[in-house]
Amino acid sequence: MTRKPMSGISVCAFDAYGTLFDLSSVVGSCRAALGDRAQALSDLWRRKQLEYSWLRSLMGRHTDFWHVTGEALDYAMKAQGIDDLGLRAHLMEAYLIPAAYSEVPAALQALRAAGLKLAILSNGSPSMLTSATSASGLESLLDAVLSVESVGIFKPHPSVYRLVPDRFECEPASVAFMSSNSWDAAGAAAFGFRVIWVNRSGQPRDVLPASPHLEVDSLACLPTLLQP
Ligand code: LAC
Repeated sequence: MTRKPMSGISVCAFDAYGTLFDLSSVVGSCRAALGDRAQALSDLWRRKQLEYSWLRSLMGRHTDFWHVTGEALDYAMKAQGIDDLGLRAHLMEAYLIPAAYSEVPAALQALRAAGLKLAILSNGSPSMLTSATSASGLESLLDAVLSVESVGIFKPHPSVYRLVPDRFECEPASVAFMSSNSWDAAGAAAFGFRVIWVNRSGQPRDVLPASPHLEVDSLACLPTLLQP
């Protein structure tokens, strides 16, 4: 895979959870209560959250990501034999204020300084995204925070990716889309974005009908890779 810079970019759009925001910080805030079940709970919670988003989209039974996140947590806690409403409330509150990965603020600042527009495009509900961007201090670095709630279906439906060119009045090919989720990177590439897969944990690439154009292991190198 080439690491030649991508030129002709006008907008950088980022997935939120797992890409800008570190989900391990959510369960980390309850590590004392969870002990050695923390990692398994975190992994299952995320897996079910995504599965439920896809299943609801296929069933035509959309509800917002906050509810999906709660339903996934209910499943994950039950599967781990945890029956504790206080802990459930604490985990959901923590989901509203995830920590940004350490390299994120400097990378976003450098991209802005290069004249690029910056946006989040996320399954998250508007109130979840407002809370996360304001708690992490990223709010002032973003030109737009776009939620799937304006189209009422989850990623990777093409109507979600369409929100970015509609908002910025640009062509999909001038949008660089960054996601740590391989399936999201595939969906964005299928739509027509130029896609960088942020493969933070060395996962194999999904075998899907479209592929990311570049692969990186953090956002730190973006300012050298993306050019107007
Ligand atoms: C998002 C999830 C998929 O932020 O990570 O859209």
